[in-house]
Amino acid sequence: MAGPVDYFKGFSKLNREERLQRLHEMGALTNEDIRFFRTGANVPIDLAEKFIENVLGYFNMPLGVATNFEIDGRQYVIPMAVEETSIIAAASKTAKWVRENGAISTEMLGHEIIGQIQIAKVQDYARVVEMVKAHEQQWVDNANNEVASGLVRRGGGVKRIEVRKVPRGDGGDMAVIHVYADPCDAMGANIINQVCEYLKGPVQGVTGEKVTMCILSNLVDTRLTRAKVEMVGLDEDLMERIEEASLFAQQDPYRAATNNKGVLNGIDPILIATGNDWRAVEAGVHAYATQSGQYRSITRWKREGRMLVGVFEAPVVLGVVGGVTTLHPTAKTCLRMLKVKSAEELSRVCAAVGLVQNLGALRALTTVGIIEGHMKLHIKNLTLGAGAEEREIPYVQKRLEEILSLHKRISLSNAIDVLKELRAQRATNEST
Ligand code: HMG
Repeated sequence: MAGPVDYFKGFSKLNREERLQRLHEMGALTNEDIRFFRTGANVPIDLAEKFIENVLGYFNMPLGVATNFEIDGRQYVIPMAVEETSIIAAASKTAKWVRENGAISTEMLGHEIIGQIQIAKVQDYARVVEMVKAHEQQWVDNANNEVASGLVRRGGGVKRIEVRKVPRGDGGDMAVIHVYADPCDAMGANIINQVCEYLKGPVQGVTGEKVTMCILSNLVDTRLTRAKVEMVGLDEDLMERIEEASLFAQQDPYRAATNNKGVLNGIDPILIATGNDWRAVEAGVHAYATQSGQYRSITRWKREGRMLVGVFEAPVVLGVVGGVTTLHPTAKTCLRMLKVKSAEELSRVCAAVGLVQNLGALRALTTVGIIEGHMKLHIKNLTLGAGAEEREIPYVQKRLEEILSLHKRISLSNAIDVLKELRAQRATNEST
C-alpha cells in the first residue's frame, strides 16, 4: 500500500479543494475539518473574548501545510500559519531533498523547565544556600502536593531546587533560587509561576531574606531539543558552500541573527498554528544562541566524510495541552493533523522543520541566491500591492515573471509600472 509520502507528489500544484481532499485521503483531515477549512476556518467571536482583553475581532493569518517531512521515520503533515511567501514552499522542497538523500532524527536533552525566585539584596548568600539545601526535599514535596499534584499524577512535577549567585553590578550579589519541574505535555508557564509564588513564603520564613519576585525563565537550557539531518551523495562543491555559510553564521553575529531568523521561519508558523507561545520560544532560542558569550547560529552544517550533517540545538518549550492549544478550534485541528502524541514530539518536529528550513535557505543562498525563488512566489503579493484588479492579475504576474527572469530582480515599482502600461494600453484600445 502506498505510504502518505506518495500523496504529496505534485501537492503544490493542486488547487485548495484538491489539497483538502488529498489530506482527507491521507487521513490527516476529517470531513468536519474540511468543512471548517472550506468556510475559512471561522472561529466564534465569543471565544476571542475569552482569550484576550478589549477584543475587536480576529487577525486572520494564512494557514498552509509543509509536505514531504519524514522525521524519526514517521511522516508528518506540518501546519504552518505564516504571512511570508516561500517559507512553506522552501520547507517542502527541502524536506523532499532530505528524504531522497538522507534522514532526519531528533532527541530531547532533559525535561525540566525553570522557575526563578529572586532575592535582590541577599544579606547572607551562604546561609541561603544552606537553608535551601536543608529544606529542598520538603519544599519539593509540599509544592508537588499543594500545587503540582496534577503534574505528579502524569509523571512530572517539581524535581529539585538550586541557588545561583548573580552579581548585582554594584559590588553586591543577588541570590536566585531555581526551581526545576517537568511539565509533561504542558508548556508549564502557569504551573511553574504558581510553584515559585507558593515557595516565596517558606523561602522568606526559613532564610529571613526578602524575596523580590518569582517568574519562569525562558532560557530553558535544561530542556533542549536537538534535530539532526544526515545526507549522502550530494555535490561536493555544494556541501562545501553550505559548510562555509554555516561557519559564517557561527562566527559572525550579524549573519547569525539572519540565519536564526531563517530557522525560526520554520518554527514560529507551527507554534502559531498549534496555539503555542512563540514569543517564549523566540526569547529562549535567542538567549541560548548567546550561551558562548557571543550570539551564534543555533544550527551547524559540516561535511563528515561523504556526508553533509546538520544539527539544530536550542530550547523549544511548548505544549499540546493548556493555553489555547486545546481551546482554539484551528489549533486543535492542526494538532490533530500533526498527530503528535506529546509536547516532546511537537518540540522535536519544530526543531526538525527549523533545521530543514535553514538548509533550504542556505542551499538557495549559496547557489542561485534567495531572490529567484522568493520573488517568484512574492510576485502575487506585488501584483496585489500595486492595486491590480482580478482581471488584470494574470497579465501583471506574467510580465513580472518575465522581468524577474531577465533582470534577476523585481520590486513593487515594477508592478506599478506594468499595471500603468496595461491600463494605458487598454485606454488606447478603447479609444480607437
Ligand atoms: P522551485 O525549484 O522553483 O520549485 O523552487 P518547483 O516548482 O520545482 O517545485 C519543487 C517543490 O518545491 C514542490 O514539489 C514543492 O514541494 C515545493 P511538488 O509539490 O511540485 O511535488 N514548492 C512549493 N510548495 C508549495 N507551493 C508552492 C511551491 N513551489 C515549490 N508554490 C522555491 C522554488 C521557492 C521552493 C526555491 O527557490 C527555494 O527553496 N528557495 C528558498 C526560499 C526560502 O528559503 N525562503 C524562506 C524565506 S527567505 C528568509 O527570510 C530567510 C533568509 O534570510 C534566511 C537566511 O539568510 O539564512 C534567507
